[in-house]
Amino acid sequence: MKIIKVKDKYEGSKKAFKLIKEAHLNGSKVFGLATGSTPLELYKELCESSINFLDSISINLDEYVGLSKGDKQSYWTFMYQHLFIIKPFKKSYIPNGKAVDLAAEAKRYDGVIKDNPIDLQILGIGNNGHIGFNEPKTSFALTTHIVQLTNSTIEANQRFFAKKEDVPTKAISMGIKSIMNAKKILLLAWGEIKAKAIESMIKGPVVKDIPSSILQKHQDVVVILDEAAGSKL
Ligand code: GLP
Repeated sequence: MKIIKVKDKYEGSKKAFKLIKEAHLNGSKVFGLATGSTPLELYKELCESSINFLDSISINLDEYVGLSKGDKQSYWTFMYQHLFIIKPFKKSYIPNGKAVDLAAEAKRYDGVIKDNPIDLQILGIGNNGHIGFNEPKTSFALTTHIVQLTNSTIEANQRFFAKKEDVPTKAISMGIKSIMNAKKILLLAWGEIKAKAIESMIKGPVVKDIPSSILQKHQDVVVILDEAAGSKL
């Protein structure tokens, strides 16, 4: 893992932007994208830049089960508002959280990833060390699957909803195997709240209790941390 420490999320997002621009210039055409507050500044950088993704494909990590594309809190809406409205891709994929047959939807999504191998995957990290919506104890061998969200994740994501009861309890997420298949991975983390997860991901053993620890086994991972997120290293 290559660790880059920066002062704050603004400097970190500028660095991340440069890496993406470089990858795009060098021929990367499939970008794995993440939601959450972590990549927001990066998406702003992309929107303000002259980068053109009309030759590229985006594949998002996950979606809440039960929310449709047009739902205010869906990850579709999030991506549209923060990136796609300004920087559309040739084609953008996000799992369908409203699919009647979720198992079939997971299979379909695996097909999308198989047909479009991810060149660069952007990741945030959950407070409990999760990546995508792969919660602690998830098998490293899974591809796209349905997830029962942990209380810690529901509470962390509550801030995007009016009340805790509104937060979906299930999600459909790319699996760890799918994430590990990306050619390059760029993980971002900001703030003290991520410090413990980052410490375990980098310094701890590779264990299912810390899903992100598997990234130690990937051959091309760049981790960009602000001072607070890197304070336990
Ligand atoms: C959710 C998303 C993850 C994201 C995590 C952290 O669980 N599924 O992809 O990394 O939240 O979110 P934030 O960046 O808001 O801290």
